[in-house]
Amino acid sequence: AMLGARSGALAGRRVLVTSGPTHEPIDPVRYLANRSSGRQGHAIAEAAAAAGADVTLVSGPVAIPDPAGVRVVRVETAREMLAAVQNALPADLAVFAAAVGDWRPAAERAGKIKKDGSAPPPLALVENPDILATVSGLAENRPRLVVGFAAETDRVLEHARAKLARKGCDLLVANDVSPAGGVMGGERNTIHLLGRDGALETWPTLPKDEVGRRLVERFAALLGGT
Ligand code: CTP
Ligand code: CA
Repeated sequence: AMLGARSGALAGRRVLVTSGPTHEPIDPVRYLANRSSGRQGHAIAEAAAAAGADVTLVSGPVAIPDPAGVRVVRVETAREMLAAVQNALPADLAVFAAAVGDWRPAAERAGKIKKDGSAPPPLALVENPDILATVSGLAENRPRLVVGFAAETDRVLEHARAKLARKGCDLLVANDVSPAGGVMGGERNTIHLLGRDGALETWPTLPKDEVGRRLVERFAALLGGT
């Protein structure tokens, strides 16, 4: 092999992965967030790098280590995540595993909100940009394979099918994040893989790094040989 050239199922491919939660500031000391650990997204990024890809991981605030062999761009908010994603394009494959905050406080207060003995402050929210839908809809620079995730607590497949259509992605990884399943923040994951053609697979419950490796194998097969 050539010096420096990588081998593997994703050799020569550029891959973008989002992972983790976002933090949406309320004031300098408070934020809105969610329970995502970043484990599944990070595992996909690491598996893609191990398969020879040039990987950029755009990660919200997480407590787990950076995956090996990956370029990591750290962000806090959904808007920062969108900018970092746009910056990382073009890519052959984009995987949107982040649990992006759907809403952010309408205004970030410059100073800490004080109790001051009166009623609790109102918290007005506005919707964040949809990063996956934005990238799926790109006229130029759309990655050839765009993969979304769907975190659902009920009617998982029904919601996931609708989400796949709404987002315009090529493949959707759906998981049940109801508290009893322990997926959100946990070590293992049970996924359903949905294709645009209606194809559906349900995978056995597996450690998130194994799910990452198997997903990467699948993505490589869909992208075809280099
Ligand atoms: N996503 C995104 N940007 C957002 C919201 C979601 O890129 N502002 C991506 C997620 O990374 C995931 C997919 O969209 O790949 C679906 O996220 P999910 O939260 O399940 O769907 P929503 O469209 O936000 O709908 P809801 O939360 O109401 O179910
Ligand atoms: Ca959401």
